[in-house]
Amino acid sequence: MRINKFMATCGVASRRKCDELIEKGRVKVNANVCKKLGMQINPEQDLVTVDDRPIRLTNNFVYYMLNKPCNVVTTVSDPNGRPTVMDYMPQGKNRIFPIGRLDYNTSGLLLFTNDGDVAQKLLHPSFEFGKTYVVDIKGNILDAEIKKLQNGVDIGDFVTSPAKVEVLKTTPTTTTLKIVIHEGKNRQVRRMFDAVGHKVQKLQRVAVGKIKLGDLPLGKYRELTKEEIAYIKSS
Ligand code: URA
Repeated sequence: MRINKFMATCGVASRRKCDELIEKGRVKVNANVCKKLGMQINPEQDLVTVDDRPIRLTNNFVYYMLNKPCNVVTTVSDPNGRPTVMDYMPQGKNRIFPIGRLDYNTSGLLLFTNDGDVAQKLLHPSFEFGKTYVVDIKGNILDAEIKKLQNGVDIGDFVTSPAKVEVLKTTPTTTTLKIVIHEGKNRQVRRMFDAVGHKVQKLQRVAVGKIKLGDLPLGKYRELTKEEIAYIKSS
């Protein structure tokens, strides 16, 4: 394998940036400074270092989903010692991190990976991974208010883009809706409903793009399937 491809696959940087590192003499192969840009290396046998730190193939990109419970912070570590989403995830040599965040009081689908490219893709609105939430609000909602949510509402510092909104259930005191949004502004769904005069009582994310939470129990995680990973990468 060409050394720059190997380095890029290990997550060092883009191939072009890796070539720059080689040109600067910062890359060694088996303790010798690599002087040739197109050098072929054997990832199984050769020890490649950048600034004397070994790099390894992460054939170990991992992808998980968690059904996040409420009262848990989406962070890798909380200075205030509150339970974090990491408490629910496998501990291992793969340093996974959550992709985006769900509020302390939001439950549902949260993705994790150690693959920066995939994380960036999922977070970027241009890739159109709609995020689907099931929302309980206080009271009943008017058609005109649903239209506003669908068309886009001003949530203070931002006007939301068109959203899909559907009523799933109504009782005299509560309405349950499904909403699909394409951005991930802070507390976006709660602020959208606030903007049309309804307080969110319960919020659960049930899908990201075509990746669905399904019947994964609260507080449990699972690996994404090959199909789910391929879907994200090919989007
Ligand atoms: N929108 C919110 O208001 N909260 C979340 O946790 C996610 C989306």
